[in-house]
This record gives sequence, structure tokens and C-alpha cells, in this order.
Amino acid sequence: MADLDPVELGLKAEAMIRALATISAEEGRITRLYLTPEHRRAADLVAQWMADAGLSVSEDALGTVRGRLDGPGKRLLIGSHIDTVNDAGAYDGTFGVIAGILGAAHFQATGRPLPFGLDVLAFGDEEGSRFPATLLCSSAVAGHFDPETLAVESVDGVRLEDALRAYGKDPGLIGEAAYGPDEALAYVEAHIEQGPVLERADEALGIVTAIAGQSRLIVTVIGEAGHAGTVPMTIRRDALVAAAEMALALEALARDYADDFMVGTVGKITAAPGTANVIPARVSFTADLRSQSDSVRLAALARLRAEVQAIADRRRVTAWMERSHDAPAIPCDVSIQDGLARAVIAQGGQGLRLPSGAGHDGQAVGKLCPIGMLFVRCRGGISHNPAEFCAPEDMGRAVATLIAFVEGLADEG
Ligand code: GLV
Ligand code: MN
Ligand code: MN
Repeated sequence: MADLDPVELGLKAEAMIRALATISAEEGRITRLYLTPEHRRAADLVAQWMADAGLSVSEDALGTVRGRLDGPGKRLLIGSHIDTVNDAGAYDGTFGVIAGILGAAHFQATGRPLPFGLDVLAFGDEEGSRFPATLLCSSAVAGHFDPETLAVESVDGVRLEDALRAYGKDPGLIGEAAYGPDEALAYVEAHIEQGPVLERADEALGIVTAIAGQSRLIVTVIGEAGHAGTVPMTIRRDALVAAAEMALALEALARDYADDFMVGTVGKITAAPGTANVIPARVSFTADLRSQSDSVRLAALARLRAEVQAIADRRRVTAWMERSHDAPAIPCDVSIQDGLARAVIAQGGQGLRLPSGAGHDGQAVGKLCPIGMLFVRCRGGISHNPAEFCAPEDMGRAVATLIAFVEGLADEG
């Protein structure tokens, strides 16, 4: 591994993280949603970095920025996402894109010929924070974009198709974003762990064994509006308290299946008419359910459906659930795991393996080719929170490890 200085790589990564963190819809907070002006600015900056690294840059019909390093045969894909949740941390997704660019820059600068091509991908929608759909860009790259998704409406009331056109994209060209089945060698992503395992093990890096399966739902509850001062408690049909009981049922259910890494979250709730002195008549809330086991997740979903119905019946409200996202658990390729473990160990780590409870673009790209992920510890395991922090030296180790992994893959021919 010639000319590799993890400290210098870490400082470069940190400077790039800081630069992307300034691109936000909100002063003092990081909020960068798909197909917004902030997404455009972040994509332009990433494209500039890719060009500076000597990569040829293009953008597909869903806005994924691609930096290409030519090479024979199949292409190794390295990527992550540049969208964020609302009031996000600076590292989720962005670090993986930056790691890919720094890795590709290394191969471009050293001129070491690789027996495969290399593409760095900066996806625009992994979080699903703006549209009730997620992994849109990586699904298109995998050739699994569902055209019906073009009709979904964003939180700000824009259809995906219209948002794409306003972003300067032609939805008719989405099919061209897909790699051919024989084109992609593998997909590798570096990402902050977003959990506490590595920090507790005093390890900077870990290798992901599998990504949890995930279902996201929108639950709608219809009750009856009424005067908050006059309607007796016994005859109310309050949609908000019914929804609150449903959220508690989801929590209890997830706890019941905790052995299978089941987690359940109500992340957003809206109540209408939304006035202090009116009994809520219409509530909608999101439910996010995840597990390493698809059968456990599906069993929990069936139980949730039954409990929502029972609560609705008891409280004399109407309720229904719609699924907005479903992704099966995806195993990481064992030979990629082994290659990453060798690279981690060569950097002085143990090669610890762990599952991912967070969703990642690899879940979509896994439909195209084998995938692998390298996790980097983050302080306190905190993520989806402005306090998210990953030490520059850990990021530097991760980039050096990613480079060593690619070299190992090249040595295998
Ligand atoms: C993405 O960050 C997810 O796991 O929801
Ligand atoms: Mn992420
Ligand atoms: Mn995230």
C-alpha cells in the first residue's frame, strides 16, 4: 500500500464532511432532502471533487452522481448517499461518498492499473425523508425502480415525477440508470455504524454481516371532531389517543421480538384539525419496523395489523395501514466480508463482524450484485442527530482499509 497516510486521509475526509455540512435548507442545522436546491448544490460539489480526483463524471435520470475510473471488464461500485434526515448529523451517507472519492483518487494518482473499472456513486435518496419511498436512486441503479413510485407525493405536496422534471431530469430515461447484470462486479459501502457496538468493543472498524429487513407504514386513524369543552370523555371518538395506543402497541410488540433485533418506531405523527380546543378527527402516523429476520418482521406486521384493528374497534374509530416501503434483510457477501476483514486486520483491527439495523443503499444494490459494507465507529453510537461524530483518524483508517480491500480484490484478479 504505497503512499497511504490514514491521518492525512482522515483530515481530508473531515474537511470534505465540513464542506458538505454547510449545504442545508436550514441555517444552523443539516437538512438536505432529495431533489431540492440543497441536493443540487451537494451533487455539484461532489461532482467537482470527483472531477478533481480525475474521474469522469455523469449524472443519471434520478440524480445519482457517478464518478468513473476506467478499467477492463466489470465495474466495482463504491457508494453511499448525500441526502439527510431533517436536522441530521454530518456523517451519515456523506462519509461513504467521500471515502469512495478518496479511494478512487488514490488509484488515479498512483496509476496502479486495476483489473476492473471503478464507479463512485453518490445517491440522492436513501433516507426517504421527502417522499414516502426510499432507496430510489440505488433501486434504479440495480434496475429495480418501480415506475408507480413516480406518482408518490412529497411532504411538501410535489409528485416525484414533477420534482424530477423540476430538477432537470427526464423520468423516461430512468431505465438507463441500471447496470447490466454482467456489468457490476460488486458494491461496497463505507458508513458510520450509527450504533454503539464498535465503540464498546474499542474497535474503529467493523464488517457488516447483513442489513436488517425493513417495513415502513403509514397508519391513518379517523375519529370525530368535537368541542374539547363539551363532549363527555365516555362518548369521544378521539383519533389521537387511539393513535397513541397504537404506538404503544407497536413498542410492546417490538420488545416481544427483541431477540431477533426487532425494533419499532413511530417517527412522525400529524393530527387534524390540530387545534387546542378541538378533539382530533384525523391522525396519520408512520411506523417503521425492522428485524434481521424477515419472517419475524412479517409476523410482527400481521400482529400490528390485528392490534391496530382491535384498538380502532374498541375506540370506535376507523383505521387502516398502508405500506410505503418494504425491503428484505440482505446478507453481505461472505467473500467480500473476508476481504474487508483482511484489510481491517492489516490496519491493526480485529476484523469484528456485526449486523446493521440501519437501512442502506446496499439493500437495493444487493438485487444487482454481491454487496459488502465497512462500518466506522461513531461517538456514543449517535446518529440521525446533529451530535453525530466520527473521529478523523477513524475515517482515515476506513479510507485506507477500503483502498486495501480494493487492492486485495485486484490481487485476486
Ligand atoms: C436510513 O438511515 C434508515 O435506516 O432509515
Ligand atoms: Mn445512511
Ligand atoms: Mn440515515
